[in-house]
Amino acid sequence: MEQLAKLLLWQLLLQQSSVVYLYSVPADASNPDSVVVSVLNISATRGSQAVLPCKSYRMVWTQDRLNDRQRVVHWDVYSTYYGDNKMERLCDMYSAGNQRVYSSYNQGRILMPQNAFTDGNFSLVIKDVAESDAGVYSCNLHHHYCHLYETVKIQLDITKKAKAAKEYWDGEKAVIVALEGSTVMLPCVNRNHIWTERHSEEEQQVVHWDRQPPGVPHDRADRLIDLYASGERRSYGPLFIRQKMNITDTAFALGDFSLRISELENADEGTYSCHLHHHYCGLHERRIYQVFVTEPVREKKVVNLTTHNTAPAIDPNVVRGHNVINVIIPESRIHFFQQLGYVLATLLLFVVLLIIVVFITRKRRQRGYEYNVKKYGEKDVNLKEFTVDTTDLTQYKSEDIRLDYKNNILKEKAEQARSFPAKNIDLDKDFRKEYCK
Ligand SMILES: *[C@@H]1O[C@H](CO)[C@@H](O)[C@H](O)[C@H]1NC(C)=O
Ligand SMILES: *[C@@H]1O[C@H](CO)[C@@H](O)[C@H](O)[C@H]1NC(C)=O
Ligand SMILES: *[C@@H]1O[C@H](CO)[C@@H](O)[C@H](O)[C@H]1NC(C)=O
Ligand SMILES: *[C@@H]1O[C@H](CO)[C@@H](O)[C@H](O)[C@H]1NC(C)=O
Repeated sequence: MEQLAKLLLWQLLLQQSSVVYLYSVPADASNPDSVVVSVLNISATRGSQAVLPCKSYRMVWTQDRLNDRQRVVHWDVYSTYYGDNKMERLCDMYSAGNQRVYSSYNQGRILMPQNAFTDGNFSLVIKDVAESDAGVYSCNLHHHYCHLYETVKIQLDITKKAKAAKEYWDGEKAVIVALEGSTVMLPCVNRNHIWTERHSEEEQQVVHWDRQPPGVPHDRADRLIDLYASGERRSYGPLFIRQKMNITDTAFALGDFSLRISELENADEGTYSCHLHHHYCGLHERRIYQVFVTEPVREKKVVNLTTHNTAPAIDPNVVRGHNVINVIIPESRIHFFQQLGYVLATLLLFVVLLIIVVFITRKRRQRGYEYNVKKYGEKDVNLKEFTVDTTDLTQYKSEDIRLDYKNNILKEKAEQARSFPAKNIDLDKDFRKEYCK
């Protein structure tokens, strides 16, 4: 019984401490430095749901199953030569494909290096330039997977004088003045690994949510969620935290990694941060939210009593002829009742323990009485034995007294008879014989 009580107490203590210790899963400190994109204060009422937004279109996973990064380069020209302004696509090339030259006129006349996506040299070569080639050229690099777009603009002017041929920077773009009929090279070099390398996709794209309770520095933050583009999802901490704080399943499909915290409590206050890492695309962003929980506005308990006479039958699903009682309890009350429930449950447990303890002590004391009674009983037996002895004695005594009442001679006779019966007779005979003589 005593052991059971101890066990119960231990269990109670363990339950309370587990809540504290399971919560402190450390966040990975080895994250590369992220750019803090935003710091926001968010306050929400207790019991409500808070949404901490964290969205980035660049984190959308395009599931490039071809293992081709969907990198593409295209050269366009903005020309005013024919009087009207027009934009024309000259050529393009995919990272895992051949280059396409759009007009037949340019076929064989303009070209890009075939190894552009391994070398990072996307420069355009135009042979036999004509006056009609004048215009603003743009080298466009698109990385569909990383949602990156880069453009380099170069202005090409044609001159008929060899002396006038030159290259300069006009403050916005490079300007090349080329001699008519010559071969020009419009430079577009980008050796950033994003444009030249291949990586394994899934491991490179990860989203973390961290939480710092008030007063805890960022390097000791608790990790809440890790989410990988491959679909792997890791949640940390006790189950109630995992159920309470979650991000949607479609996060990588929509680029929405917003954290939803349901049933806000005061204990949920703290600093939350969303880390978006796209290692391949070089994206490292951090969004910070300070969450404050405010007391809900005190609602008055509303008891709405409506008799069936006055109740308007708007909803056909509602059963008619019943009194409708709407009882609205403010959420703070619900919280209060929860707390009360906890307190009562704990109290009940202690009462049970107390009863057990009282029971044990009572049992012990009872055992003590029995022991004493047994001793008494033994003594009684002794006393009985003694009384038996004394009665015997009195019997003897009363006999003696009876003997005293009798004649002394008789007594003597009796004594003599008792001690020497045969001899007495002999002596008597002898005495009589002597007397008769
Ligand atoms: C957020 O709240 C903190 C503490 O109350 C305050 O110091 C800070 O100025 C607030 N920041 C913003 C952006 O409101
Ligand atoms: C890029 O390629 C063009 C054409 O092949 C070449 O003329 C140029 O030197 C290259 N540039 C670099 C920086 O390698
Ligand atoms: C979090 O949300 C996802 C998708 O909505 C769900 O599959 C998962 O079970 C949730 N996690 C917990 C611990 O409730
Ligand atoms: C009471 O309930 C009725 C319908 O059930 C509604 O029309 C009315 O507005 C309610 N009154 C209050 C004070 O909530």
